[in-house]
Amino acid sequence: MPLLAFETSCDETSAAVVDQGRILANVISSQIPIHAEYGGVVPELAAREHLRNLIPVAQTAMRQAATSPEQIQAVAATQGPGLPSALMVGFKAAQAMAFVLRRPFLGVNHHEAHLYSSWARGTPPTADFSDFEANVSLVVSGGHTMLVHVRDGLSYQLLGATVDDAAGECFDKIGKLMGLLYPAGPEIDRLAEHGNSSAYAFPRPMLHEPHDDFSFSGLKTSVRYFLRDHPEVLGDVQRVHNLCASVQAAIVEVLVTKTIRAATRLGLHCITASGGVTCNRALRRQLAAACERSGLKLRLAEASLCTDNAGMVGLLAERKLLQAGANASAGADIAPEWVLGSIAI
Ligand code: KG4
Ligand code: ZN
Repeated sequence: MPLLAFETSCDETSAAVVDQGRILANVISSQIPIHAEYGGVVPELAAREHLRNLIPVAQTAMRQAATSPEQIQAVAATQGPGLPSALMVGFKAAQAMAFVLRRPFLGVNHHEAHLYSSWARGTPPTADFSDFEANVSLVVSGGHTMLVHVRDGLSYQLLGATVDDAAGECFDKIGKLMGLLYPAGPEIDRLAEHGNSSAYAFPRPMLHEPHDDFSFSGLKTSVRYFLRDHPEVLGDVQRVHNLCASVQAAIVEVLVTKTIRAATRLGLHCITASGGVTCNRALRRQLAAACERSGLKLRLAEASLCTDNAGMVGLLAERKLLQAGANASAGADIAPEWVLGSIAI
């Protein structure tokens, strides 16, 4: 039963075809070159690009999956959270497609789709979800940083979230201070591989506070002052590498420590991690090492599913349609502020 899914919550236009827990095609048209010159995503430009790209991307996904519109059995799209004008394009197009094809339609939460992507690795979860283990899930992207307690099946409790900048936003804004192009996270990751992470001492915000919230704006400010006082660092390749490694080490230590601590406190034995920042190689290595030390199982989303993509939307939608057999969102609207864990799912 092929399902066609769309993701347009921010600056990637993506369409995917999934079938029985497997992604048959996952086409992503990135708008990064368009937004790079502005140093961040411009919502109206994003919406316009989604409009331009949505149908070609969907056609490519169906061609790659050797599926025709008539064979599609259900349609899904990201409902929120995200940029309203960007969400609107994918969500309304998907609803219209479902209406014309007379197929069920489901809108899904973007964070829940990220979170679920960590289960797409290897064999998909079984139909009755019997292999799904309660876990603490780190969802870490450009827009959000959150720790979620995932109980049986798909029921969530938000444990904590960033009170200011998201971790990806922190990477991107520090990169901008250093003169790197948006999004700077992947570039900092690359440069940090050649640097010494103890070269410069930056704060680890909220590391020792006994709650699961995060804060990253102080770290960004601290790098701003550092660069004001030591502008010469940017003129030296090795010192740029060291700066990237030191910044990355501060972000990664906070994410890893707080994730492990939450799982230990709740007596859970499994951790999952997803979202764009989960591409970061130091984060992946250090989460793996910390889980090993603490005897925890780790399910990291595959790097290809970490940044925004419709494959994760399709997998989650298929799971939900199988469970509920619903046409739950046929008449629904976008939900730009939808907070995961604030509603019973
Ligand atoms: O999940 P995503 O594609 O979009 C949101 O839902 O926000 O995440 C994008 C974010 C950007 O901030 C980008 O800089 C960050 O993920 N990112 C990385 C890496 N790859 C992407 N941050 C650090 N290291 C990376 N390798
Ligand atoms: Zn995302």
